[in-house]
Amino acid sequence: MQGKLVGVGVGPGDPELITVKAVKMLKTADVISIPKAHENKPSLALAIVKQILKGRENIPELLELVFPMTKDKSELKRSWSQNAQIIAEKAKTGKTIAFITLGDPMFYSTFIYLCQRMKEEHPEVNLEIIPGVTSLTACAAVSKIPLAEKNEVVTIITSGIESDKIGEIAKHASSIVLLKGSKRLKEFVPVLEKSGFTKNSTIALVRRCTMSEEKALVGTLKDVKKWDIDDDYFSISIIKEKTK
Ligand SMILES: C[S@@+](CC[C@H](N)C(=O)[O-])C[C@H]1O[C@@H](n2cnc3c(N)ncnc32)[C@H](O)[C@@H]1O
Repeated sequence: MQGKLVGVGVGPGDPELITVKAVKMLKTADVISIPKAHENKPSLALAIVKQILKGRENIPELLELVFPMTKDKSELKRSWSQNAQIIAEKAKTGKTIAFITLGDPMFYSTFIYLCQRMKEEHPEVNLEIIPGVTSLTACAAVSKIPLAEKNEVVTIITSGIESDKIGEIAKHASSIVLLKGSKRLKEFVPVLEKSGFTKNSTIALVRRCTMSEEKALVGTLKDVKKWDIDDDYFSISIIKEKTK
């Protein structure tokens, strides 16, 4: 019997934000697969599910898979294919492999690449995805800034984007969400102010949302220059044209 690969969203950090369905899967899966950028780097996703795994009667196999953070496309493809092959071999023996991801598996996640490889290279393996609470909505909740209402447009960008593109995008957005760190936030503020946002637009910068190290700053764009911003990759900024 063919087994399956299940992408499991484990939420943004607080273990209470894991869905009931994800908990059930984490309690029964034969293998828990943990994506890592380097072998020695601790996994935040694993830390979130630690208590659930501890509570299991039988100990699952823990399978760490390294997905290197590189821009070398051939190296990336090689690692995705290798990891897909490892999972396919396990699935062939009827096992269920739960691949844990921070937030939601289909939102800026390593699971997306694995999922694509599985579909293309191992179509015989069953695929299932359990959605998770994303960091995006968790940060909106913590900062109490609504992402959108009525016909508003929410635009999601990452800190890798060029400034001139942000200017164009911002002209059409009611809210902007900036993912993947806050290093360039001060550089982006004047661009936003030239593109429809104002000094009085609301902004929240949330770091390590719902984790024990959570820190949230909420103010207006004119406040940002005074903010002491630490460059934590696990940060999100939400900028809202106006708060009603
Ligand atoms: C590779 S993406 C993963 C997104 C994830 N799949 C999700 O649904 O939230 C990593 C980015 O998500 C954001 N992120 C993830 N967890 C976060 C948290 N607890 N607090 C703030 N930002 C977070 C950060 O912007 C980080 O750079």
